[in-house]
Amino acid sequence: MVTRTEQETRARLEEHGQGHLLAFWGDLDEAERAALLGQVETIDFALMNRLTEEWIHNEPPAERFTHIAPVPAIPQADPARPDVREALTAGEEALRAGRVGLLLVAGGQGTRLGFDGPKGAYPIGPISQKSLFEFHAEKIRNLQRRYGCTLPWYIMVSEANEAATRAFFQEHGFFGLGEENVTFFKQRMVPCVDESGKFMLEAPSRLAMNPNGHGGAIPAVVENGIAEDARNRGIDTLSYFQVDNWAVKVADPVYIGYHVQHNAEMSSKVHQKNAPREAVGVHCICDGEYRTIEYSELDIYPQLLETDAQGHLRYFAGNPAIHILAVGFIERMYANYDTFPWHRAHKKIPYLDGSGKRVKPEQPNGYKFETFIFDALRFVNHGPVALVIGRAGEYTPIKQFDGSNSVQAAWTAMGRYWADWLEAVGRAVPRDAEGNPAIAIEISPEFALTREEFLEKAPSMELPAEGDVAIGPNGESLA
Ligand code: UD1
Repeated sequence: MVTRTEQETRARLEEHGQGHLLAFWGDLDEAERAALLGQVETIDFALMNRLTEEWIHNEPPAERFTHIAPVPAIPQADPARPDVREALTAGEEALRAGRVGLLLVAGGQGTRLGFDGPKGAYPIGPISQKSLFEFHAEKIRNLQRRYGCTLPWYIMVSEANEAATRAFFQEHGFFGLGEENVTFFKQRMVPCVDESGKFMLEAPSRLAMNPNGHGGAIPAVVENGIAEDARNRGIDTLSYFQVDNWAVKVADPVYIGYHVQHNAEMSSKVHQKNAPREAVGVHCICDGEYRTIEYSELDIYPQLLETDAQGHLRYFAGNPAIHILAVGFIERMYANYDTFPWHRAHKKIPYLDGSGKRVKPEQPNGYKFETFIFDALRFVNHGPVALVIGRAGEYTPIKQFDGSNSVQAAWTAMGRYWADWLEAVGRAVPRDAEGNPAIAIEISPEFALTREEFLEKAPSMELPAEGDVAIGPNGESLA
């Protein structure tokens, strides 16, 4: 761990123009001093010098594409198509053979949700109050039962939520998945910088730092021994998802099937955007390379907002952030991580001024640097496979409490999705004027992951004759 003395650290900081970080050294006790030295020790100065040079001391590199085309994508899976049935067979074989592991990125906080804790601990079940983590765990239990395999679950956390996430899983007995099959690993943090490129203190003994983005999964998977663990277990394929997508299929056999059939290094699901300015990235081919253009950049590329004569978006391919990555691809990306692209965001960053007073700025006053996993798509040699999905039962992100992409919207979307299953077994569902269920509904994904499975298991289920419906993992009524 920390081997450098105060003098060595001071000299190192001064060499990089960051000597001000020890401004309050004299006021710190031993523990605080050790913490500050430890934090400085984690900084990759070569990287930070490159980022401040490229992004702060010079005009940020203007990346402007001359030719943008919609991404070629496999149409939404319809089991009537032979290619879909073949992909299903290939994906199921990969699952049964134990080639698949799960990679969840959960390093963010539930800040936009107004939730004080890891986002995955958010009690999303409208009746059971089960957390996002528990829903994902129930999907895993279902798939393990179905394919007779173990799906090791690798969960990326950050400094800000590691302890709380581990404690949550401990409290819930790892949701019955076995502690040995759930591995937490920490992404790196990067210092926030002010507008002149100086690192910032958020407390006398602490720098302001942020997690390095979900692209940080690439170094974190290799450096924390996840790639090695996967290989030791015979896993070559990682199914990647984000914790805030309640509906996500954590390991979709059809999608995995296309990925392995194409021997792809990385794949991506895409969904039809529901509005030109929907807050999702857009997959497209830019000057011959596979790219995801973020929603914040839509005004740079107004063609991405264009619709055809029927009113359909030409650049329809929204990014639900559901990928598959080959373990070998992550290792190859890691070996070349020095050239991986970074993004900067102008943010309001609380800091200590020269006199030690904490300032909460009203305006953006500094930058956070992050990497994005989808930027790896441009480096793929085989693939990427892009598969179109519908939203229902696949993409229900939870970013805030109400409005679009909210808890409320997710309850409605999943309520509609499950209402269809209930009606198929003869349970009437009262609806409001917009056709949304007027009752709360939730169905454990451990009991049924798909409509077919639900219909098959309907006889073993306890269904209340009226009112809310909540079906537990064994078909028991929770309402
Ligand atoms: C993201 C995507 C967007 C996509 C949308 C789908 C980015 C920049 N944009 O938007 O293209 O259409 O999701 O819902 O990601 N995370 C970490 N570590 C980090 C940062 C994030 O693990 O350092 C995880 C979060 O825990 C979360 C996920 O990444 O699971 C997404 O992060 P979030 O900040 O919510 O992304 P969005 O801006 O909503």
